Amino acid sequence: MSLSETTIETIKATIPVLNEHGLEITSRMYDVLFEKYPETRLLFSSAPDEQPKILAGAIAAYAMNIDNLGALSDAVGRMAAAHVRTSVKPEHYPMVGDSVLTAMKDVLGDAATPDIIDAWKEAFFFLADILIAKEKALYSEKG
Ligand code: HEM
Repeated sequence: MSLSETTIETIKATIPVLNEHGLEITSRMYDVLFEKYPETRLLFSSAPDEQPKILAGAIAAYAMNIDNLGALSDAVGRMAAAHVRTSVKPEHYPMVGDSVLTAMKDVLGDAATPDIIDAWKEAFFFLADILIAKEKALYSEKG
């Protein structure tokens, strides 16, 4: 499986918007996530103020390397390790995905065209699948 060329181009075109509004989007994302899916609150214990910044950085890095994902392998390893440490499970990904896309629409308004939302939906779940596979391996190592 790989991302479509159209998706890759659309994601790249959103890099300036993410640079400008990334933190606003991820801050909104956590509000949506905790309101709609309160059970996820328990997973986040440490430094809640830092989370939007960390996630905004990860999303920007993903967008910038969308056609060179090998560059992200160390970052993916760190994310997967953090997720396993905090008991993130595959069923949490659709909750975060829904919240990220909702936050993009809320913050960007009309600028979040259906093409942009579709591309980010595809890209989010593509990365989610990579993380879920890595986390599955780490969980089974832990036994
Ligand atoms: C594609 C989706 C996701 C991305 C890009 C992402 C990104 C990240 C990053 C960059 C970190 C910090 C890693 C480090 O410590 O170096 C992190 C940690 C974390 N993420 Fe995610 N994440 C995703 C999905 C999720 C999901 C679905 C959940 C569950 C609701 C989640 C919950 C957490 C938690 C609890 C931490 C640890 C926070 C702490 O240390 O207190 N993440 N994530």
